[in-house]
Parts: sequence; C-alpha cells; structure tokens
Amino acid sequence: MAKLAVKICASLACADWLHLEQELRALEKAGVDYLHIDVMDGTFVPNFALSLDLMRLVHKATSLPLDVHLMIVQPERYLEAFAQAGAEIITVHQEASLHLQRTLSHIHSLGVKAGVALNPATPLHMLDYVLEDLDLLLIMTVNPGFAGQQLIPNMLKKIADARQLLTSHGLDTDIQVDGNVSFANAPAMVRAGATSLVGGTSSIFSKETNILEGVQRLRRLAEKALPAKGEKE
Ligand code: DX5
Ligand code: ZN
Repeated sequence: MAKLAVKICASLACADWLHLEQELRALEKAGVDYLHIDVMDGTFVPNFALSLDLMRLVHKATSLPLDVHLMIVQPERYLEAFAQAGAEIITVHQEASLHLQRTLSHIHSLGVKAGVALNPATPLHMLDYVLEDLDLLLIMTVNPGFAGQQLIPNMLKKIADARQLLTSHGLDTDIQVDGNVSFANAPAMVRAGATSLVGGTSSIFSKETNILEGVQRLRRLAEKALPAKGEKE
C-alpha cells in the first residue's frame, strides 16, 4: 500500500529568478516538501536550466531539501558534485544511464537517495531489475525540457501501471510526476498512484495564484484524491 501522504515539490526552474530569495521565503512559508532542481545540459534535452553554482547558492540560502532531476547525458560524471552541493535526492534518466544499477549504488554510497526518471515513451519494464534500488520513480508526464507543456494523457495509465508494478514487488516507493502537474491534473495523477508532485508553471508558479495559495491548493487537491487509509487503490 502506498504511503498515504503526497509530497509537494516546487520546480525552481519555474520560479521568478530575478526575485529568487523572495520566492524561496514564500516556498518556505508555504511548506513545500522539496525544491525540485531541474538540471539540463542542452544535449539530453534541447534546453538549459539550473546550474550547479545556483544550486550551491540555493542550498546556502534555505534549509528546504533539494530534489535534483538530472536531465543530462552520462549523469554518473557529476554525482559527487551534486551530492556535495546539497542534493537529498538525485534522479537520473534511465535513457541516459548505460550502467544504471552501478549509478544507483554510487548515489547511495554518497548518502543520497536515488531516483530514476523515465521519458514518456520509455517502458516501465526497463526498471524490472532495479526496482528495489529506487527511493523514487519519476514518471515524466511531458517530454522533458520545457515548462508550459500539456500532460500526455497516456501517462495517467503509466502512473497506474507503475504503482501496480511496485506493489507487485511489495514496494511502496514514491512515484513522482513532473510536467503539467496542474490543479486540474493533480487529482487524477494521485488517484493513479503518484505520491510526489512537481509543481511548475501549471500550479505553484501559475499566473492565476501566488506561491502560498498555489502550494496549499495543490496539497489540498492531492490529499483529497488520496485513497482513504486501507482503501484499495
Ligand atoms: C519539464 C518541465 C517541468 C517543470 C514544468 O522538464 O521543466 O519539470 O516542472 O512544470 P509545468 O509543466 O507545470 O510548467
Ligand atoms: Zn524535473
């Protein structure tokens, strides 16, 4: 049975970078569980986002835990660097990891939680032999790289399939979803089995609300959608 609580992660790549300190204080006040740090190399995804230096700065400026999403090729090259920069979770892409099991062990050896992200087209069964090594499974609900995209509808079934796969292995590993986690989409994502939501321009940083309201609304919607304790999902 999945943990009956949903984690709210703020996608810092979607914050107002010109007023980052104020945004961090607002996120602290709103009680987000993690800052989601999108790192992009322009190769694995055709875009760039947050840098290691910015992450070090953010880690000094707030005690909010950092959930790092590496959208880069050969992520194994930078595990120590992101661990030293303060990552509590490091998530690598299965598609970018030639020796995924070794990479997951390496992340754990650094005292950091290990996550794996799957692009929309990548089947869950690529992870069959490393499910027990995961602290987090990130299901990309859009193609990675850009904010403001629309949810790929088939991803709701993928979330449900992922929850079923984990449960069939006796695991209650967190399933994180990233991309168009809007107020409208979040309940269906949670009902399908997501337990960690990455809020970007569709919710926490949307134009229709402020950060405090956005976080509270997303959390309220998510918790309302959770299966009641003991209820079958
Ligand atoms: C895809 C995006 C998301 C980000 C955007 O990599 O960069 O990670 O959280 O969120 P939305 O889709 O709400 O703008
Ligand atoms: Zn991300």
